[in-house]
Amino acid sequence: MEHYLKPLDATQQPAWQALRAQRERMQQFSLRAAFAADPQRFQRYSLSQAGLFLDYSKNLIDAGSLSALIELARQMKLQPAIEALFEGRPVNASERRPALHTALRRPVGERVLVDGVDVMPEVHRVLGQMTELVQRIHNGLWRGYTEMPITDVVNIGIGGSFLGPQLVSEALLPFAQRGVRCHYLANVDGSEFHEVTAGLRAETTLFIVSSKSFGTLETLKNAQAARRWVLAQGCREADLHRHFIAVSSNREAAVAFGIAAENIFPMWDWVGGRYSLWSAIGLPIALAIGMGNFKELLAGAYAMDQHFQSAPFEQNMPVLLALLGVWYGDFWGAQSHAILPYDHHLRNFNQHLQQLDMESNGKRVRQDGSAVSCGTGPVIWGGVGCNGQHAYHQLLHQGTLLIPADFIVPVVSYNPVADHHQWLYANCLSQSQALMCGKTLEEAEAELRAQGLAEAEVQRLAPHKVIPGNRPSNTLVLERVSPRRVGALVALYEHKVFAQSVIWGINAFDQWGVELGKELGKNLYGRLTGEDASPAADSSTQGLIDYFRARHRG
Ligand code: F6P
Repeated sequence: MEHYLKPLDATQQPAWQALRAQRERMQQFSLRAAFAADPQRFQRYSLSQAGLFLDYSKNLIDAGSLSALIELARQMKLQPAIEALFEGRPVNASERRPALHTALRRPVGERVLVDGVDVMPEVHRVLGQMTELVQRIHNGLWRGYTEMPITDVVNIGIGGSFLGPQLVSEALLPFAQRGVRCHYLANVDGSEFHEVTAGLRAETTLFIVSSKSFGTLETLKNAQAARRWVLAQGCREADLHRHFIAVSSNREAAVAFGIAAENIFPMWDWVGGRYSLWSAIGLPIALAIGMGNFKELLAGAYAMDQHFQSAPFEQNMPVLLALLGVWYGDFWGAQSHAILPYDHHLRNFNQHLQQLDMESNGKRVRQDGSAVSCGTGPVIWGGVGCNGQHAYHQLLHQGTLLIPADFIVPVVSYNPVADHHQWLYANCLSQSQALMCGKTLEEAEAELRAQGLAEAEVQRLAPHKVIPGNRPSNTLVLERVSPRRVGALVALYEHKVFAQSVIWGINAFDQWGVELGKELGKNLYGRLTGEDASPAADSSTQGLIDYFRARHRG
């Protein structure tokens, strides 16, 4: 049986016990002292790959703990699992599917078999279909019902059919091609629908209905509203096909909605939604930055794929990030992980990573259905720096929680203004340094005395100024944001998440937990509208239904 179908229990591995001993030994570990004792620490714990530079020296690790972490990866058979992932074996055990988002960025000439069939020709055919659409739209050849060229594209989709495309398009704004504006419509909220369509004209707008299942309520409701909006502006039914295309694995449902068959871009069940921006789900990205840059994005991810498959764990960027997350979550009690990009275009990176990480590893049973015996996925949160310094960094520095942070920062800005980028970069480094060094009581007292405060004031204030420090962070440096580097960056986190799932023995590629809410939502809707007069199962839900119905009566 494939090992991932009956995963080992990480907590029963010798390396886990060794890590417990390492954690005990490191009770008094001091990053300040570690840097003072080893002038080579930065060189020792940093590496470059695929256009990214990772400094992981400000972590609560030393030779002993790091080697025990790497030994855990070995004992949990991470390398065979990586091979199974890339070979298209059913690593998504509950759905009996492969997870082949990596196939989407493989170059021509490589083969990947799914059920004995090489899927690469189809993958590259769809890339060709995307290229043709992007060129037709960029060249003004795609005309709407009044024969005007398309100027605006609205992506209707949610979750993986929205977050990845939106993040990458935003990250690569400096590469935006002139002429086509891309918009995103995700939530079933009339205010978003009105905000997105407010400045648009139906005759020059193309809607992309992005939905792997073509059954997601929010997406279907928005697609129907968009259809009504286009018709209300004068488009005939017969011309609707000029304003709607679809990306879906459910071709039948897309045709039933009214999408012309030739305007449906396929998705495959062996690509998970949160891993799908590399497929035709990435059409909004390609429309925004051009197909050449989209292929650069794929190339960057492919470079990270090659690295993940071949680098020894000691020099393997995704594996190191994964093991550090296991170390903090399962041995240091960390419950969350902060993503802190110091770059305006990457400001929403944590939102994509929230779905990528939390929908993948927010699991409590292992691949074989047995309960996990350790902590699994953390809460992923964060936001752009320096803004966070004026919002939540206080808690990072003086709160009672250990929250590991990933700082992400380019060396070069696309929009230099005076010395802004120097200050942005300096702030990024100072935050990770402050987390690491902190400020002792003695240092706080000396600082206050140097300001000339009376001793009583020094004693009163000093405890409030102590910063514990010894708080871990990684710093990922890009020379500057580019399609290739963004591709590598997203793939880095995809593989980090997968590696962690293997250590925890869980399935990173299903998401059964979201089904209950959807089912309850449908039942609730009937009670809100009065179609279903039966009482809700609990007084809270019933009371809140009554509150709504009282306002909407009549
Ligand atoms: O949240 C559940 C989920 O299925 C995600 O995994 C997915 O990205 C999103 O909903 C949208 O699904 P679809 O692309 O099928 O509309």
